[in-house]
Amino acid sequence: MTDKMKFCAPCLMGVEGLAANELRELGCEKVEAENGRVLFEGNEETLAIANLGSRYAERILILLGEFTALSFEELFEGVRALPWEEYLSKEDTFPVSGSSLQSALHSVPDCQAIIKKAVVKRLEGKYRLSWFPETGPLHKIRFRILKDKVSVMIDTSGQGLHKRGYRRNSAEAPIKETLAASMVKLSRVRSDGTFFDPFCGSGTLLIEAAMLAMNLKPGLCRSFEAEQWAQSDRAVWKDERERLRALARPEVSFQATGYDIDPAAVELTLENARKAGVIAHVGARVRRVEEFAESSPYGCVVCNPPYGERLLDLRESEEIYRAMGKVFVPKKGWSYSVITPDEDFEKLFGRRADKRRKLYNGMIKCQFYQFFK
Ligand SMILES: C[S@@+](CC[C@H](N)C(=O)[O-])C[C@H]1O[C@@H](n2cnc3c(N)ncnc32)[C@H](O)[C@@H]1O
Repeated sequence: MTDKMKFCAPCLMGVEGLAANELRELGCEKVEAENGRVLFEGNEETLAIANLGSRYAERILILLGEFTALSFEELFEGVRALPWEEYLSKEDTFPVSGSSLQSALHSVPDCQAIIKKAVVKRLEGKYRLSWFPETGPLHKIRFRILKDKVSVMIDTSGQGLHKRGYRRNSAEAPIKETLAASMVKLSRVRSDGTFFDPFCGSGTLLIEAAMLAMNLKPGLCRSFEAEQWAQSDRAVWKDERERLRALARPEVSFQATGYDIDPAAVELTLENARKAGVIAHVGARVRRVEEFAESSPYGCVVCNPPYGERLLDLRESEEIYRAMGKVFVPKKGWSYSVITPDEDFEKLFGRRADKRRKLYNGMIKCQFYQFFK
C-alpha cells in the first residue's frame, strides 16, 4: 500500500453531507461529497480510521482509478494500467463485481470478465506467473460504470459497515444501522439529553443514539477484510482501535428509552444494548404509543413506526399516525422525528413538519419528517 491513497465511501442517498463531515472530523483529507458516495484521501491509518469510525458510510473502498471507457479495449487497457501489484500478492483472491448505468458498456458480466482478464494480465507481467491460485485473503474488486466513467475499487471492509456486531435480527423490519445513525444525527441529539423511540423493535435507534452520545465508534467490536491482508500493517489497526476506544465517554448523562407493544421486541432491545456496550444508557419497556406521556423538560423522539403494506395494515398504521399526533405534544425543549413512506403522514399526524428530507429505507422511498416546535 502506498502513503497516498484515494478512497471512496458509498453511503445512503441523502446522507452524503453527514458522511463527508464525519470523515473530515476523523482526519481524512480532501473530502468531497458526491451523489451516493464520498471521496477522500489518506494513508493506511486513514483507511483503518474510516472503517472503525464511520457511522454513516456503507463501506470503505480504495479507489484505484477512474477513466472513461466506450469500448472493451478501453476498459481492458484502463484496468491493466492500474498498479494492482501494490494491493494484490501472488496468492490473493480477487473476485470482480460491479454495476453499469447509462453507459455504452452495459453488460455487467462482460465488464466483469474483461476487468478480471486485465488484472490477471497486469499481474502475469509483474509476477512472471501464468496462473494464480487465489487461495489467499479476499480482495474484492468492485467497479462502477456511470455515464461511461469507470471507477475501479478494492473493498477493504468486507461485511458492510452497518454490521456493527451488536444486533440479532428481529422478525419485524429492523432499520439499517447506518440509516438509524443518520436519523439520530439529523435529530441533533445531545450527549446530555433524553432520547425516546416509542417503536423500538430491536433497539437500533436507541443504540445508535447512545453510541453517538458516548462517542463510541461503531467498528470497534468487528473485524475488516483489509486487516487480513498481507499488505496491511497490523500495528496500525491495533493502534487506531485503541486510540478510538480511548475517546469514548461512558460517563455521559445521556439516557435513551424505548417502548414497544411487543414484549419480545423489548427483550431484544435490551439484549442488543447489552451486546453493544450501551446498556447503562438504554432502557426499554412494553408500552403502546397511544400511552406515550413523558414529563422530562427535554426530549428527542426519533422513530420508525410500522408502515403497513397490506390494506388492513395500512388502516392500522394510519390509526397509529393519528395517535402519534395526539401524544407527541409540541413542547419547548422537545422534538419529534419520524421516518415513513406515507405521503399523507402530516395530514394524519395533524401538523406540518418543520423539516422534510427524502431518505430511503432499503428500497422504500421515505420522508424524514421533523417537528422542532
Ligand atoms: C418498523 S418496526 C421498528 C423497527 C426498529 N426501528 C428496529 O430497528 O428494529 C415497528 C415496531 O413498532 C411496534 N408497534 C406496532 N404497533 C405499535 C403500537 N401501537 N405501539 C407501540 N409499538 C408498536 C412493532 O412491534 C415493531 O417492533
